[in-house]
Amino acid sequence: MSRVADVAVVGAGYVGLVTGASLARVGHRVTCVDKDRERVAGLQQGRMPVYEPGLEELVARGVGAGRLSFTEGFDAAVGGANVVFIAVDTPQGEGGAADLSNVSSVARSIGRALAESTRRARPLVVANKSTVPVGSGDYVSVLIREGADEVGGVHHPEEVRFGVASNPEFLREGSAVYDSLFPDRIVVGAEEAWVVDVMRELYGPVIEQSFPVEMDPRPRVTVPFVVTDLASAEMIKYAANAFLATKVSFINEISDLCELTGADVGSVATGIGLDGRIGPRFLNAGIGWGGSCLPKDVAALRSIAREYQHETRLLDATVAVNDRRRELVVSKLQRDLGTLDGKRVALLGLAFKPNTDDLREAPSLGIAAELCSLGALVVGYDPVAAKAAARRAPDLLVAFDPHEALEGAHAAVVVTEWSEVRNLDLRRVASLMQEPKLLIDGRNAIDPAAAREAGLLYRGFGHD
Ligand code: UGA
Repeated sequence: MSRVADVAVVGAGYVGLVTGASLARVGHRVTCVDKDRERVAGLQQGRMPVYEPGLEELVARGVGAGRLSFTEGFDAAVGGANVVFIAVDTPQGEGGAADLSNVSSVARSIGRALAESTRRARPLVVANKSTVPVGSGDYVSVLIREGADEVGGVHHPEEVRFGVASNPEFLREGSAVYDSLFPDRIVVGAEEAWVVDVMRELYGPVIEQSFPVEMDPRPRVTVPFVVTDLASAEMIKYAANAFLATKVSFINEISDLCELTGADVGSVATGIGLDGRIGPRFLNAGIGWGGSCLPKDVAALRSIAREYQHETRLLDATVAVNDRRRELVVSKLQRDLGTLDGKRVALLGLAFKPNTDDLREAPSLGIAAELCSLGALVVGYDPVAAKAAARRAPDLLVAFDPHEALEGAHAAVVVTEWSEVRNLDLRRVASLMQEPKLLIDGRNAIDPAAAREAGLLYRGFGHD
């Protein structure tokens, strides 16, 4: 049984909340700190700032057990912790580079809090979960020391004992709770052995899968704990997302070739995915990748390369292929509808993927804007993201029921494969729509034969 740690998580956003609640779940005492007063007040009353399946229950469980709390009080939370996670966002800044202003201000504040907390019994591990440019671990140390220096009159910064770790997260929106309790691997980059030891102990119950679970979702296997230097851990995060983006762009390029040659991309994906070296996941062709992470991390990696005057031809192509996917939806609509002027088009699903309300880099928004500029009337449906979409795309009409969106539509596009969209009654869909009752399946999520039988003009990606 590993020791219980006192953990502070700075940033009660998506990553911070899931991390904090999961660490509380496996037995640690966790305080999540956020400067947003409303967010903290909401969390204290059990209101989640993001939509994520299972998160509310996990948070309630931690709070109920007295192991999870929320505060605005940075200094007290950091002062009482032996591990502090930095989990603030690093939005995409100028030229694709990650904007580090939030990480910087948190690191400085940690330094100040460290210098001011008199004679800490234990040294502090500062674990960075935010995705930062390769080489930032040292940068975080520098900022912590600078912060400590600012109040250095009281204690000499040399007395401020801390170590920095890079601990990238691999959570997927929509299944983040599962991913954090049952990860494929845990990566820790650090330059000092004691820092690695603290992190290994912290994650002990996850690594050993020794925490109690009601319904065991998978056989107990030890989770690989990968120890690297700081720069490699940071690169692992970028490389993982860049590889995933490239894998999807690859199958999308093959999908276009399937359409030209009469092959079926679904069969091709099955056939290649069974090769253990390739693997079956992330081979679903269609509208392409979006969200907050893949686009941002590929852009950041390209920007890092530019700093070194290095060309990233594969990543450039990955992005170019993906940009083309949105245009393809419009050309597929034009092929069967002719002019889009005056045509009514329903977008089924608006979030960038199912089980999230996230609209960042969501294909729906770009497609809606393009269709509206061509004179179409666009009505979008999404089970959770509709309201937010209406705010972001003023020309887009939104519906909270898919049938309402489909009423009188000449065409419908499956943009996000929510189960509500996958399981639509296709006969009812056809009965609501106007000729030619075109269904563009942007996620290859609907059975083509069933759609045609129901009277829809079905068009998928990479197959008949
Ligand atoms: C991604 C990674 O999968 C996580 O491991 C990582 O932690 C996270 O980014 C992050 O950096 O925070 P996420 O953005 O939540 O997670 O979404 P994914 O499930 O990876 O999907 C990314 C995009 O690819 C979506 O737009 C999805 O629709 C698309 N996709 C995915 C496809 O078009 N085809 C596929 O076969 C799979």
